[in-house]
Amino acid sequence: MPPPDAADGRDPLAARAVALAVLRRVERDRAYADVALDAALANSALDTRDRGLATRLVYGTVAWQGLLDWHLAHLAGRAPETLDLAVRLVLRLGCYQLLVLDRIPAHAAVATSVELAKRVAPAAAGLVNAVLRRAARERATLPLPDAADPVRHLAVAFSHPEWLVARWLELFGVAETRLLLAADNEAAPTVLRARPGERDRLIADLAAQGIVAEPSRYAPDAVEIDAVAPHALAGYGLGAFTVQSEASQLVALLLDPQPGTRVLDVCAAPGGKATYVAELVGSRGLVVAFDRRRRGAAAIATGARRLGIMRLAVGTADARRLPLAVHERFDRILVDAPCSGLGTLRAHPEVRWSRGPADVLRLAALQAEILHAATAHLAPGGALVYATCTLSAAENEGVVEPWLAAHPELERDHAAAHLAPAAAALVDASGALRTLPHRHRLDGFYALRVRRR
Ligand SMILES: C[S@@+](CC[C@H](N)C(=O)[O-])C[C@H]1O[C@@H](n2cnc3c(N)ncnc32)[C@H](O)[C@@H]1O
Repeated sequence: MPPPDAADGRDPLAARAVALAVLRRVERDRAYADVALDAALANSALDTRDRGLATRLVYGTVAWQGLLDWHLAHLAGRAPETLDLAVRLVLRLGCYQLLVLDRIPAHAAVATSVELAKRVAPAAAGLVNAVLRRAARERATLPLPDAADPVRHLAVAFSHPEWLVARWLELFGVAETRLLLAADNEAAPTVLRARPGERDRLIADLAAQGIVAEPSRYAPDAVEIDAVAPHALAGYGLGAFTVQSEASQLVALLLDPQPGTRVLDVCAAPGGKATYVAELVGSRGLVVAFDRRRRGAAAIATGARRLGIMRLAVGTADARRLPLAVHERFDRILVDAPCSGLGTLRAHPEVRWSRGPADVLRLAALQAEILHAATAHLAPGGALVYATCTLSAAENEGVVEPWLAAHPELERDHAAAHLAPAAAALVDASGALRTLPHRHRLDGFYALRVRRR
């Protein structure tokens, strides 16, 4: 029986069933939420509104999982991890609609969840009904952990793991940590990169398709749009734009690649920065791009073909052992290192649950090795950018400080000298680019530029 809010003729279960299938892939197979969602939407017949709803349900339920499980433990009288996966996910999805979203009527959230349960775990439909009805009744008075323990309180209230909250409290203090945690739970804007210098034309082309598009604040080719599934927009296949966050565009710009420059990018997949740099160095320049993953390297080549880029050579290689002659040197090197990704929780909410302190240590050691190997190929007078999309000090200052101490031939180069004037606000006291979701509405990136004397 369809739930009671099916008044507009749409199937109220359609978007929720897609969201549930994606949540199952994220939890059971450790899939990336965005990748699993893109695949599910590509195979679905959902209309635009339902695509938007499914997207919201997936990102929101994953982001708010910590808070939802806290409330579920209270409402169900048992730890959520003791429930079958399908039941746990239906309950999280229902609780997200009841406790976090404010536009879905309670009766619709409960009824659709019970119908979903009948499909995937029929024996638990009664339990789902009872728990969610209780959630609807008690939602204004559900308890949170005592604020006397700020780590636990903030971790639950803003749905982040405790270890991460403890780190952010040390780095940012209480007031700013609250803002950062809140910003992590907002949706990231969808940002495109126009072909260099063609931003106005792209905005006009998008407007002709009825897409609201605005120039971004800091990166000269960045355009923010109000649309889901940007890869499906006209012009993508023809190379009119690339989907790339503004912070990521800024890292490529920090390299300041001039026409004719030879550039090495050692961790290049899927190629957002490598293709941008290749567009900027033009037909007289060259970008040599490596990635350890063969499929990653293939994605760079596909992107280059779509954009009509000729001067981008791609290879599969471990950046700690680059397949380059010892004497080979480049004018610019980008080390966009594999990292914990903790600055991108808006776009990748699952990362907060899949990473732990041990990953940070392991990645910091890997980053140091990659940086050391890449430095050997920097030409005198050339510049290297070390970048991460994490806020963890161990992977940023913790990597670059010992590296600079070991390389007296390198000197810091102030980021503001290489970016548009508006981006000066994004440069910290050490001269590094440092973007933060809560201060700048950008993903949290760190990028240091150094020059070889
Ligand atoms: C932050 S991502 C790079 C993003 C890319 N620069 C872009 O803008 O699209 C880090 C990349 O490092 C790659 N990677 C991880 N370990 C590596 C290693 N030892 N050598 C080379 N690449 C590695 C990963 O496969 C991943 O594609």
